[in-house]
Amino acid sequence: MSSLSDALGRPLRDLRISVTDRCNLRCTYCMPREVFGPDYAFLPREELLTFEEIERLSALFAQLGVRKLRLTGGEPLLRRDLPELVARLARIRGIEDIALTTNGLLLPRYARALRAAGLKRVTVSLDSLDPDTFGRMNGMGVTPERVLEGIAAAAEAGLKVKVNTVVQRGLNDAHLLDLARRFRDTPHALRFIEFMDVGETNRWQLEQVVPSSELAARLAQLAPLEPLQPTARGEVARRYRYADGRGEVGFISSVTAPFCGDCSRARLSSDGLLYTCLFAGEGFDLKALLRGAADDEALLAAIRHVWEARDDRYSELRAQGAAVTGKIEMSRIGG
Ligand code: GTP
Ligand code: 5AD
Ligand code: SF4
Ligand code: SF4
Repeated sequence: MSSLSDALGRPLRDLRISVTDRCNLRCTYCMPREVFGPDYAFLPREELLTFEEIERLSALFAQLGVRKLRLTGGEPLLRRDLPELVARLARIRGIEDIALTTNGLLLPRYARALRAAGLKRVTVSLDSLDPDTFGRMNGMGVTPERVLEGIAAAAEAGLKVKVNTVVQRGLNDAHLLDLARRFRDTPHALRFIEFMDVGETNRWQLEQVVPSSELAARLAQLAPLEPLQPTARGEVARRYRYADGRGEVGFISSVTAPFCGDCSRARLSSDGLLYTCLFAGEGFDLKALLRGAADDEALLAAIRHVWEARDDRYSELRAQGAAVTGKIEMSRIGG
C-alpha cells in the first residue's frame, strides 16, 4: 500500500463525499433563498455519481491512505436509499470511520436504518434554540424542535451525535448560551463554527464573524473552560471541557485560527469532481475518467497526481489578506 503526501507534506486521510447538491433548508450562510430559489438549476440525476461509482472511488481512496469517510450534501438524507450506500462503504477494507453531516430533519425516518447499515455517528447542524432566529437562519421557518427530534432519534438508534452551530454576529450570537446550556449535560459535543466565506453567494463579511476567543469568553459564564488534547492529527475543532465536569464544547475557527497545516481532507462533489480544498475554484473530473471506462490503475494514478500537486491552504492565505474568486458552493462540495 503506497502512502501519499501533497506538496506541503500532508497525507490523504479523509474523504468527504457530497451525495446530493439539494437541501430541504435554505440556510442564509449556505444556500440563500435569493440564489437557491424555485428556478435554481440543481444537478440532473444522471450527473450524480451512482452508489457503485462512489463505492469504487472510496475503495481506491482507501488504498491511497483514506481512513475516514464523511457523507455530506446538500442534505445527504435527501439522496434516496442512503443507508444502502453506507452499507457498501462500511465493507471497504481500510475504512475505520464513517460519519454523516445532516440538518437532522430526516433522522427520525432514517436513523435506525443508518445504524443498521453500519453508520456510527452523525453531526447535526443546529444554529439556535430560538424559533424566530433559527427559522430565519434556515430560510424555511423550520423550528429547532424538529432538529432536536432528529438528534433524539439518532441517539435512540445508537448513533453518536455531535452538534454544529454556525455563528453569525447579529443573527444568532445573542442566543448561544442557551444552546451551550442545552447540550452541556448531554453526551453530544457542541461545536461553534466561525462563519466562513465559502462559495460566492452568502455575502460573507468579516464583521459577521464572531471570533472563537470572544465566544469562549462568553461561555466561561457557565463555567471556566479547560483545553482538551486533540484526539486526532488535523482535527478541525479545538475542544474544551467545562471545569465543573459538565460536558465539553468545541470551536472551529477557520477564520481566526486556520488549520490548513495538517489538512488531510479531500472532497468529492456530488457530480464526481475531486477538490483538494473547501475553497477550491476547480475540481478534477474523476467522473469523466470513471465513465470513460478508466481502469483502477488509471484512477489511482490520477488521484495520486492531484494529491501530490496539492498546495492549498486557503484559510491561511485569507488570514494574510489574499482574495480568491470563483469558489465552489458548499452545497455542491459538502461542508
Ligand atoms: P469529526 O472531527 O470527524 O467529527 O469531523 P469534523 O469536525 O471534520 O466534521 P464536520 O463535518 O462536523 O466539520 C465541521 C465543520 O468544520 C464543517 O462543517 C466546516 O464548516 C468546517 N470544516 C471542516 N473541514 C474543513 C476544512 O478542511 N477547512 C475549513 N476551512 N473548514 C472545515
Ligand atoms: N460557514 C461556516 N459553516 C458553514 N456551514 C455551511 N456553510 C457554512 C459557512 N458559510 C456548515 C453547516 C454544517 C456544515 C455542513 O457546514 O452549518 O454544519
Ligand atoms: Fe442545507 Fe446544511 Fe446548507 Fe443549511 S448548511 S442549507 S442544512 S446543506
Ligand atoms: Fe484544508 Fe483548504 Fe480548509 Fe485549509 S482551507 S483546512 S487547506 S480545506
